[in-house]
Amino acid sequence: MKLEIKIIQADHYEEMSRLAAAQVIQLVKAKPDAVLGLATGGTPIGLYRELIEDFRANGTSYEGIHTINLDEYVGMTAENSNSYASFMKENLFSHINIKPENTNIPNGSAENLEDECKRYDALIESFNGADLQVLGIGRNGHIGFNEPGTSFSSHVHIVELSQNTREANARYFPSMDEVPEKALTMGIASILKSREILLLASGHTKAQAIKELLEGSVSEDFPASALKNHQKVTLIADQDALQLVRL
Ligand code: F6R
Repeated sequence: MKLEIKIIQADHYEEMSRLAAAQVIQLVKAKPDAVLGLATGGTPIGLYRELIEDFRANGTSYEGIHTINLDEYVGMTAENSNSYASFMKENLFSHINIKPENTNIPNGSAENLEDECKRYDALIESFNGADLQVLGIGRNGHIGFNEPGTSFSSHVHIVELSQNTREANARYFPSMDEVPEKALTMGIASILKSREILLLASGHTKAQAIKELLEGSVSEDFPASALKNHQKVTLIADQDALQLVRL
């Protein structure tokens, strides 16, 4: 059977965010003890805003929900304002009724990073993967911090961030020198363990990556192409991100 990525077209970022939120909310209501795999970055901020609005307006409860985040910078404590732990608190967790102890992010400041990878792998294993993993995509096709060349059988691991990725993330830091050089990330195999994957893409800077994903071959040179080996992937993308694809 040929596996196909389901494509949902949105007019713009706000619509992409609303459509993504509708899917997350549906799962949270249907399975109040679901495990959500979450991402950081600019792409899911609108989705998180929608979830917060829905929580305030409709009281959708996250009391029994667990979360596992994709990645964290090495050398950052959860308290550091540039950490992904802070990002998640600021953009989602502190605005909904999720239990802090049910939220999980790799510890980038762990003394022994190899042990931390093992701990996080075991945690993902204990959940048997996420019910739904939210993903963004890098301009070079990275998912999580899995840069081109990462093995499709990779689990949680330490990565050297590419110059391309560091430059893309520099907007969050006072200067390029302060952008971390390493991160802990779920591997491709950890991501593919989730029962369902929701890939979000918005804006013209993602157009080339989306074209490559939908029209290119499956190769470790383009990490997101691993998603074509998964049976349930939905891409929600706006017109700008889809502009190079003939649908
Ligand atoms: C974030 C992550 C990254 C981002 C990707 C896109 O947790 O794992 O793969 O999803 O770099 O970033 P944005 O959304 O900022 O364009």
